[in-house]
Amino acid sequence: MTEPITRRQLPVPADLRELMRFKRPDLNATRRRLASALTIADLRAVAQRRTPKAAFDYTDGAAEGELSLARARRAFEEVEFHPSILRPAEHVDTSLSVLGGASALPFGIAPTGFTRLMHTAGERAGASAAGAAGIPFTLSTLGTTSIEDVEAANPRGRNWFQLYVMRDREISYGLVRRAAAAGFDTLLFTVDTPVAGARLRDKRNGFSIPPQLTLGTVLNALPRPWWWFDFLTTPKLEFASLTSTGGTVGDLLDAAMDPTISYDDLGVIRDLWPGKLVVKGVQTVGDAVRLIEAGVDGIVLSNHGGRQLDRAPVPFHLLPRVVREVGRDATVMVDTGIMHGADIVASMALGASFTLIGRAYLYGLMAGGRAGVDRAIAILRDEIERTMRLLGVSTLAGLEPSHVTQLTRLVPVSDAVRTAAER
Ligand SMILES: Cc1cc2nc3c(=O)[nH]c(=O)nc-3n(C[C@H](O)[C@H](O)[C@H](O)COP(=O)(O)O)c2cc1C
Repeated sequence: MTEPITRRQLPVPADLRELMRFKRPDLNATRRRLASALTIADLRAVAQRRTPKAAFDYTDGAAEGELSLARARRAFEEVEFHPSILRPAEHVDTSLSVLGGASALPFGIAPTGFTRLMHTAGERAGASAAGAAGIPFTLSTLGTTSIEDVEAANPRGRNWFQLYVMRDREISYGLVRRAAAAGFDTLLFTVDTPVAGARLRDKRNGFSIPPQLTLGTVLNALPRPWWWFDFLTTPKLEFASLTSTGGTVGDLLDAAMDPTISYDDLGVIRDLWPGKLVVKGVQTVGDAVRLIEAGVDGIVLSNHGGRQLDRAPVPFHLLPRVVREVGRDATVMVDTGIMHGADIVASMALGASFTLIGRAYLYGLMAGGRAGVDRAIAILRDEIERTMRLLGVSTLAGLEPSHVTQLTRLVPVSDAVRTAAER
């Protein structure tokens, strides 16, 4: 057989012009960097290049061997989706109502301490970006921006306040009153911190509050001049609600937090707080049931992003069991390990009422301040919408447990033995 002959012609100038329409380069380096980040992992890589090691590690790190965080992320990677075919979902609605208010997306911003360390825009960037996206923002007790300044940054959006009960109860109660006066609508009472987790990266980096310069920090600063310029030319980095006497964040937590808090404290806080009361850091089915029966407005299944008890249960694994016990009417939120919109979709399918993101937004913040947080939210929004469309589901209410299988290599020994015996 003879080869067919390819017909050739001289290049047509008009076709060449078409090919050579180069995009004008964006001269704004931050915008360029953010636009080229397609995933939260990409934002993390930019964040790592731009932020001093001690600050990046404080954010990125977890406790002890960092097993809780690694397992939580792996649990999301092990999701298997079951799409419904031939069900057009051309337009998807990602909005929902949670704790008596609206959210444009099924996630909000989790409380994070010392946020201005990551980028000088800190909580103001997080709160204003959340407001613009129509999602709630949570300010931490260990925040570096005051309650009132967060309200000013997000005056029309939903602000939530996270409470640590301190040894000096009056300090905590004063914060609760101020948050109520500033119109915050929800209080997240964190209960997984009777003592600080062992954040070994902070210890190894000699990271202290307020930051101290060492030869290592100075050398590490050289390739990151802009972070240091911002740091030195903006108001001193300190907690907006506490005074620090030096030491790591762990040392500060141990000195300030009351290790004796118990179920009895719930009643006191309930009496002080006029809005919705949520308990954050629930890690067993038993506690979830007890809290819902005690009348709290919601719970967050969380192991604090793996920063407290290492080898704690994976919140995403706990989710279906908790929802089965407390029912779908209870507000059950989940966090820890969320790095992709699909993680959020899977959580909603398994009965979560809402989700929270910590590091995912902080990587954006470190990568580019307010614009970086906008980018992180936009990435997650696109991923949620795309995943829902690929699943053939157009509303969050349409997501069901049948859409998800949790594949898992981590099975409690008792279950493994039972499974083996049943075989
Ligand atoms: C840098 C950092 C600081 C945090 N500070 C607080 C805090 O002050 N109070 C609190 O309740 N949780 C705090 N958390 C935990 C988050 O609220 C949230 O539970 C966790 O980040 C979720 O995991 P993720 O980072 O994998 O999304 C912090 C988390 C990080 C990463």
